[in-house]
Amino acid sequence: MPKPHSHRLCLAALVLLCSLSLAVAAPAQRPQLAHKEGRHTLLVDGQPFTILGAQVHNSSNYPKALDKVWPAIADIHANTVEVPVAWEQIEPVEGRFDFSFVDTLLKQAREHQVRVVLLWFGTWKNTSPQYTPAWVKFDNRRFPRMVDEAGKDSYCLSPFGEETLKADRRAFTALMTHLKQVDDPQHTVLMVQVENEVGTFGLVRDFGPAAQAAFEQPVPAAVIAHKKPVAKASGSWREVYGDYADEYFHAWAIARYIEEIAKAGRAVHDLPMYVNNALRDPLEQPPKPWNKDFASGGPTYDVIDIYKAAAPHIDIVGPDIYHPESAKVAAHLDKFQRPDNPLWVPELGNASTYARYLYLILGRGSLGVAPFGIDYFDYANYPLGAKTNDKATLEPFAKVYAAFRPMQRQWARWAFEGRTWGVAEPDDHADQFVAMTGWKAHVTFGQWQFGEREWPGNQKEKPAHAGTPSGGVAMAQIADDEFILVGQLARVRIDDAEASGKALIAHVEEGRFGADGQWVMERRWNGDQVDWGLNFTANPRVIKVKLGRYR
Ligand code: DGJ
Repeated sequence: MPKPHSHRLCLAALVLLCSLSLAVAAPAQRPQLAHKEGRHTLLVDGQPFTILGAQVHNSSNYPKALDKVWPAIADIHANTVEVPVAWEQIEPVEGRFDFSFVDTLLKQAREHQVRVVLLWFGTWKNTSPQYTPAWVKFDNRRFPRMVDEAGKDSYCLSPFGEETLKADRRAFTALMTHLKQVDDPQHTVLMVQVENEVGTFGLVRDFGPAAQAAFEQPVPAAVIAHKKPVAKASGSWREVYGDYADEYFHAWAIARYIEEIAKAGRAVHDLPMYVNNALRDPLEQPPKPWNKDFASGGPTYDVIDIYKAAAPHIDIVGPDIYHPESAKVAAHLDKFQRPDNPLWVPELGNASTYARYLYLILGRGSLGVAPFGIDYFDYANYPLGAKTNDKATLEPFAKVYAAFRPMQRQWARWAFEGRTWGVAEPDDHADQFVAMTGWKAHVTFGQWQFGEREWPGNQKEKPAHAGTPSGGVAMAQIADDEFILVGQLARVRIDDAEASGKALIAHVEEGRFGADGQWVMERRWNGDQVDWGLNFTANPRVIKVKLGRYR
């Protein structure tokens, strides 16, 4: 006869087995966006995730090419790789699909333990039809180009091409259907970019018959609800938007086209989707009507509202940042970070001057960021990015990612809670001030680590980095009086908001977050290391700072 307690043991074992099999059977959660009080996060496996991304070059989307991708992704310490999937590649013959590259990419990404953002290069890649299959590219009757007022063809496919939309949507839907089959429940793919840097250079909109007829129609109510009229409250595009009518109409036409594609794709596999933007000058205020100075119809900051109205299945409009000037970078981030538009920087120049912006971007609570051109092909997109493309080129980004990577999950959670801030050294090296809850930080740059910058000794000779803006700091307030700081080439002083004169450092610990999410202290900073502020050198460090006020 079994002893009474053996029943209990059997029961316990059964419960354990059941819960284990439940845990095994529970489907991994689909990547999705979450929103709270105007802030946003990307949930990956159910938890906030910071994309420390890297985008490969435009032609690295073939199995053999991946050999040159993975070493660079490892060297830069990215946790996510952005890779194109081209229409010409998956549907070289109409109706016959080949997803072998996608399969190889996902298999290898999993082996390398990185996630993927897929870039759908379809009807438009940097506005052009260059990635469409030959059967699209050369058939201008079936897949018409935009035409100008004189009826002359532009290089750019028309957003009024019904057959083009049908064909692109079918290819994209096939891609998403395949993705669901091969990536559910692993969810290696986090998000999908629909088309690439859309819009049109040199022509403000399509003047073909279908486009012209739509242009003369009343502006849809949804557009007016999102985008304030500049002239009449309702009426045709010209009546409502005056001198801006053509470019706003073109933005609407492209957004509507993209919406059809995104909607169809999400119906089969519902992943977050976004569009990226070749930016217009953010400092031109107010923005002037299009004058051949940017891609008309692209999701520039001034037409985000139109994209929101016309493309509700697109979650994000993201800025591709290739303006190195600090004032422009800050302005771009201001314009694209909105309660209805999560900040996500899908491309960032890979020249070293951009590395300091990682602190600003991640500190502002971006879903993530991705320097562009990260693989070891001997191609460099200077002057947009670096002149070289090797391990040394990646180093300025790699060291920042290395500091963030062990705490990317915590960082994403703090950012979603609105507890993070970031600064990058401006071009004029000016001090930066950050107001936190009950505390304020003063960040300075270009200094030696010891003493005040006014001291004659420190005036005599400046450190080598002082002439080149390269500093940055990101801060998270993890408790009332406690902060995580990560930074480089900067000095931080934190005082209480009232400057009571009673604030003191309780302790400063240098360390890192372990795999279990716990803080691992490696040493305390004290004495010289705190007497002159918290000094970050060229090697990014993570510190935990506890402050207090004496009574
Ligand atoms: C922005 C585009 O989105 C990228 O695909 C690439 O063409 C870069 N410009 C330039 O290298």
